[in-house]
Amino acid sequence: MPEKNLASEINERGYAVVSAPTNNHDPFAVHAATARTLGLSDAYLPLLYRDKEVRAAVGQVEPYNEIPRNTATVEPWSETPGQSYHVDGLLEPLGGIKTTILHCLVQAHSGGETELLDSCAAFADLQEIDEPSAQALLDEAALTRFATIPGASPQHLQTTGPVFGQVDGEFVTRFSDGPTERWNTGQVRHLDTALQHFRGPGLDTHRVRIRLSPGDMLIFRNDRLSHRGCPYQNGAEPRRLTRSMYSERPRQ
Ligand SMILES: [Fe+2]
Repeated sequence: MPEKNLASEINERGYAVVSAPTNNHDPFAVHAATARTLGLSDAYLPLLYRDKEVRAAVGQVEPYNEIPRNTATVEPWSETPGQSYHVDGLLEPLGGIKTTILHCLVQAHSGGETELLDSCAAFADLQEIDEPSAQALLDEAALTRFATIPGASPQHLQTTGPVFGQVDGEFVTRFSDGPTERWNTGQVRHLDTALQHFRGPGLDTHRVRIRLSPGDMLIFRNDRLSHRGCPYQNGAEPRRLTRSMYSERPRQ
């Protein structure tokens, strides 16, 4: 697909899947090449991994990630639990990381889909049926995200902000709802009913599950969709993905 169309597809639908050859010697070269064709600048190192304590705890210093970080410690046929919905960039402000690229090198024996939720579409639904609750999601005090990395103190590793809002002329999200989030329902009126909406069946029409095969690359707008990794069982060889993130959206 010509790059212009690929960038349009990602920007319009929120995501695209393309084929990209795997390269064991340099698994991130294909990320850099794809990023270039989409007009993205260098891969972005999230604020969390710029923190001295975090770097010491997880040894993560690169803007490119292996998922999981160390496949050598993964037992064959072991199970890996699923994730909660989140956007990448725990400490980033709303819209901080606009694009994420995931590349599948080794597929899980079973499971391991990536679920994408069009949070902005779910917000639009809520706005139709319950405007005060939708407004609560725009409140600067609505959602705190915090790190839970062993060996790192969480006090300074947290950030509070709105769940949705306008950034750079687009309506974007940091909707996340898992063990690294605190919804400040005591401080923001109607936030509890907004959260019920986002935990309820109303999301079914706005999510899609994608199971990547080796060589598949998923490129998505991290500032417009929330996502989660589904649980999986490893095969004889551990499931392996690579990831890179960008502070820009694909350029059409
Ligand atoms: Fe993620």
